[in-house]
Amino acid sequence: MGKVYVFDHPLIQHKLTIIRDKNTGTKAFRELVDEVATLMMYEITRELPLEDVEVETPVATAKSKVLAGKKLGVIPILRAGLGMVDGIVKLIPAAKIGHVGLYRDPETLKPVEYYVKLPSDIEERELIVTDPMLATGGSAIEAINSIKNRGAKQISLMCLIAAPEGVEAVKEAHPDINIYVAGLDEKLNEKGYIIPGLGDAGDRLFGTK
Ligand code: PRP
Ligand code: URA
Repeated sequence: MGKVYVFDHPLIQHKLTIIRDKNTGTKAFRELVDEVATLMMYEITRELPLEDVEVETPVATAKSKVLAGKKLGVIPILRAGLGMVDGIVKLIPAAKIGHVGLYRDPETLKPVEYYVKLPSDIEERELIVTDPMLATGGSAIEAINSIKNRGAKQISLMCLIAAPEGVEAVKEAHPDINIYVAGLDEKLNEKGYIIPGLGDAGDRLFGTK
């Protein structure tokens, strides 16, 4: 059974406040999303398994540890999920990156898939789906359906901000996955925007409107 984790680390919370601020421009927004993704990934990887190894230092043999277990993959939901990839890969440079392209139809709020390209060995990887916003949950549910249909087995979802409605929808559709968020907000408005949220994540990251 998956769990929902809300990261309360002071640095994450401080940076999230600046990200939310409507006066934060594209450059700072992009840098902060990247930084928060790194900090969240640091927390997420706390439980990764280790194995014992020996390493020759310049003076002796040390009994030390390296990461064991499955390799990681990062699957950003285009567009806005892209903003979190570099921050994760800084910590896990060997991670492979797949892409799922979805946009939310502004009328129906339903996700429309337009692109999927995944690493060939996704069934052997622990996958982290990234998207700054979990609103109705439609996009995340569809992206996870899409990668499960192509063989993905171990999946978690990493978002900056989630609405309770989105969290509940993902938990119901995919009870097996962990959901990691920096902020759990109040509600959705009638247009499916997260309140208070941060506005349109893709537009703020890429400077579009
Ligand atoms: C935004 C956001 C999520 C989705 C969340 O993407 O990045 O993917 O909406 O909404 P949902 O939980 O109700 O599905 P958008 O459709 O605006 O596309 P973009 O990333 O290309 O801007
Ligand atoms: N997508 C966004 O970018 N922002 C929201 O508040 C909801 C969906």
